[in-house]
Amino acid sequence: MHNPPDESAIRRRAADAGQDHVFRFWADLSGYGRRRLLEQLAEIDFRQLGRLIERHVRHPEPENLPADLQPAPFIPLPTTDAQRRERCHMRGRGDRLIAAGKVAAFTVAGGQGTRLGYNGPKGAFRVGPVSERPLFQVFAEGILAVRRASGAAIPWYVMTSETNDQATRDFFAEHDYFGLPRGDVLFFRQGMMPAVDFKGRLILSAPDSLARSPDGHGGSLLALARRGMLADMADRGIEHISYWQVDNPLVPPLDPVFLGYHADAGSDMSSKMARKRDPFEKLGNFCLSGDRLHVIEYSDMPDDLAEQTDGEGRLRFEAGSIAIHILARRFVERLTAGGEFALPFHRAEKKIPYVDEAGETVTPDEPNGVKFEMFVFDALPLAENPVVLEIDRAREFSPVKNAQGEDSPATARRDMVRLAADRLEAAGVAVPRDNTGEPTVQVEISPLAARTGEELKRVCADRGLTEIAGDTYIGPA
Ligand code: UD1
Repeated sequence: MHNPPDESAIRRRAADAGQDHVFRFWADLSGYGRRRLLEQLAEIDFRQLGRLIERHVRHPEPENLPADLQPAPFIPLPTTDAQRRERCHMRGRGDRLIAAGKVAAFTVAGGQGTRLGYNGPKGAFRVGPVSERPLFQVFAEGILAVRRASGAAIPWYVMTSETNDQATRDFFAEHDYFGLPRGDVLFFRQGMMPAVDFKGRLILSAPDSLARSPDGHGGSLLALARRGMLADMADRGIEHISYWQVDNPLVPPLDPVFLGYHADAGSDMSSKMARKRDPFEKLGNFCLSGDRLHVIEYSDMPDDLAEQTDGEGRLRFEAGSIAIHILARRFVERLTAGGEFALPFHRAEKKIPYVDEAGETVTPDEPNGVKFEMFVFDALPLAENPVVLEIDRAREFSPVKNAQGEDSPATARRDMVRLAADRLEAAGVAVPRDNTGEPTVQVEISPLAARTGEELKRVCADRGLTEIAGDTYIGPA
């Protein structure tokens, strides 16, 4: 049990910070409401908040970009036999790390999914084009398939936030953890940050509650430490953390090739990249400043840099971040050990529902305040020997972000079907296509049925499948 919050100390801290307007409905609040407000205020580090307000609200300056940005080097997709042999060698190395039980899976799923407009944790969104498997199941099956192939226990850490923690835990429990051992799926909550208006005043979202939001996926590193997850990893002998976002159904949860390169380089933090489709595709940009790797977010990248081309007309800054990383556990320990956490906060102007003087909730039409978020890729400049590995986006990246258009459920399902169709054809199964080459039926493969091309051939032979006639889900036997 927590001790009841100390009202007078909290009131004093809020008053010293010029934030005592948050008590303006105090006389009308129930005991529960008062406690809730005090608990939220007790969590705030007012010194840090004061600094953020000075820097990002009172005297906001554009993100200061390093002046010497250069394109970051990366390991390209293999085109020569030597490069293919190298990837093969790295795969062996990664497979051995997985089999030795040194690798954990880690999904950041604390976001609010506002753009998708889906009511519930995003991981519960039913993305499977035929099976309607939710995102969490797609990942769970990927992990389970690697567990079976390697014989290793692979713990899966799932970061939630206050807004979706219980719903996420319930969802997994209802689905019996999708076949994973209960003890190997670990949930933990990220931190929350209060929002402020353009004068730097805390916003009330209800008479007894502050407007707060998750502290960004960069908060995941701090939360791993604070919630005891790094200690849990150390107990289990985990050395490498395979990190991905909840929005990408194509992600291979544990990629031995990527692990191999990461371990071979002695990298603190490695990243996957895809070549951007156009200068303004909404992907972070891998850049170098001095000898340090940075991701410059698309919204911060100056247009003239984004559009620069080389002598052959190719984008100079072509390396886009698909938000898949491997972190060395010891690196995360170092970043979070004692003192102040090293990652900076960024400012985001948002429409933040607030209570007016009458205590009624108002949803504004225009941004009325600022949220503070940390980004995990801000750890990259602090990482030694970072590796950037190019991947084939058709096989690994198709996020669900928006309700419609690009990066939506429709494009993610289309890409899942395209990938399954290509794999089936490579396994000798005919797939009907229209004259643009698009499959005319929906096909989907669970990694529990077939992880590799060889397995797919065998499964199709066993099931007497030589051509796909209608929508087909190749699921576990
Ligand atoms: C992100 C990256 C971008 C990258 C792109 C690839 C940022 C700022 N940008 O864009 O560089 O190219 O993905 O798809 O991240 N999350 C939390 N807690 C939070 C906030 C987010 O867990 O407090 C999780 C979400 O659940 C989601 C992921 O982080 O899984 C992405 O967050 P989002 O804010 O949607 O980033 P994007 O703008 O899509």
